Amino acid sequence: MYEHDVLIIGGGLAGLRAAVEVTRAGADVAVISKVHPVRSHSNAAQGGINAPLTDRGDDWEGHAYDTIKGSDFLADQDAVEVMSSEAGEAVLELERMGVIFSRGEDGKLGTRAFGGQKVARTFFVGAITGSAILHVLFEQSLKLGLNVYEEWFVTKLIIEDGVCRGVVAIDLKTGEMHTIKAKAVIMAAGGAGRVFEPSTNALICTGDGLSLAYQAGVPLMDMEMIQYHPTTLARTGILMSEAARGEGGYLLNAAGERFMEKTAPDYMELASRDVVSRAEQTEIDEGRGIDGNVLLDLRHLGREYIEAKLGYLQEVSVEFLGIDMAEQPVPVQPGMHYIMGGIKTDVNGATNVPGLYAAGECANVSVHGANRLGANSLLDTVVFGRRSGAHAVEYIKSVGAHSKAEEDLANEKARIQALLDRPKGERVATIRNDMARGMTKGIGVFRDQASMEGALENLKNVKSRMGGFSIENKGKVFNTDLMFGLELEFMIDCAEAVVAGALTRKESRGAHFRTDITERDDENWLKHTLMYKDEEAENGVRVETSDVTITQWEPVKRVY
Ligand code: FUM
Repeated sequence: MYEHDVLIIGGGLAGLRAAVEVTRAGADVAVISKVHPVRSHSNAAQGGINAPLTDRGDDWEGHAYDTIKGSDFLADQDAVEVMSSEAGEAVLELERMGVIFSRGEDGKLGTRAFGGQKVARTFFVGAITGSAILHVLFEQSLKLGLNVYEEWFVTKLIIEDGVCRGVVAIDLKTGEMHTIKAKAVIMAAGGAGRVFEPSTNALICTGDGLSLAYQAGVPLMDMEMIQYHPTTLARTGILMSEAARGEGGYLLNAAGERFMEKTAPDYMELASRDVVSRAEQTEIDEGRGIDGNVLLDLRHLGREYIEAKLGYLQEVSVEFLGIDMAEQPVPVQPGMHYIMGGIKTDVNGATNVPGLYAAGECANVSVHGANRLGANSLLDTVVFGRRSGAHAVEYIKSVGAHSKAEEDLANEKARIQALLDRPKGERVATIRNDMARGMTKGIGVFRDQASMEGALENLKNVKSRMGGFSIENKGKVFNTDLMFGLELEFMIDCAEAVVAGALTRKESRGAHFRTDITERDDENWLKHTLMYKDEEAENGVRVETSDVTITQWEPVKRVY
């Protein structure tokens, strides 16, 4: 019998920061994750974490405004105020826990510039910031008594009388299915980047958490807001951190021009990501690129500086393209990196389903709006991970005994057995690839009605094939074939929500740039899109809208 006060789905930064909070309160908490926690995708975060520290003349209002401007005014300003005002303490706390942040010449925690911000306020550990924080949070949570179900795969949330009471999951090591009961569940299962191909995201980023919450009746908000990172390595899609530009790297076109001068004369390569990606794509589309790329040039920084500050990027460039960045510019292109949208929550991580919280990339609080600033996602994970843990601890005080129900387990066992029993059919990987390529084609850096309708048609085709895929491995131990099939079902939910949101929003804002409606329309579209799973609705998605919360910053034209 598996029972806990709080069960956290996902062992990345948001999940582990929530776990620290719950264990500190003395509650019984477990993390369940389909991979070992330190293999979570947070591990891949490179450039840093933002915090406005007052000892260097910064202030939280400045960070909040840059974030809101970066979001193209779609972020809820009350949520951004919470994130920005708690950022300093959140980062200093990580340092006290043991994260060895890089330091400046003066011995103080060092900062680097990141896009869309007036001030250099990004704290970092070389170009491995996520990994460094993840390991420390994992150690801290184990020390505090965290239980870990590692390599367990959640297939369903248990919802009784509208309240979340636990999960049904497969222990991947044995193939056995179990119920894990909990008085509160925190969804911190990461993003859905692999709904697109290519993507900087790990292969595990299949939107499991978003889909589980969506199936339980929680709306997914602003899913059309897809971030294309300006610098992913040519031919591989590997992330080349914004730190490269933060440390002074240039972007050049085929003629050797710093083309950002045309679109963002003040911020140049450090404009918001959506702005830089569009500028790059324009160079490429108008024939000023090099084989579908532009160039990231660090040569002027010198070998010593590159190796000291950006050693990881140098390694990637040499290993994958044989390019020494001290000698040659490296070809890069915009690549899908992050989904600003996600499970709608309040600033405490609470969803509309009592007992179900969400934090991190799977959640939408909403602090990123239509475009996230680089290094705000790590900040989001620790601030809202902590808050969801704290709130869940309060919530469970009024929750009675664990649920006695077992029918969800029986139903899930039957559903999964039926999947295993299917006759030989199409391969999961083929369908997944077709879906993801269609998403990139239709919901790209630039999109229009026709391309988005193309994505919808592709998705309908893909969905019609879902009944015909088969699981070739019938075994129990580490049946990753089965897991990929279940992940694909989650991905389809996310893709449908993305396309529905994109087709609904009749304006251009942030990452949602329509070539057929190029202007932002605050009068009609200063609104969130809310996607509900609803088999009765057109294409299985009901779309509603809600107002954006404005506290002190009226929307103005966004110029960099
Ligand atoms: O470019 C980067 O290092 C990515 C950071 C982020 O997405 O926050």
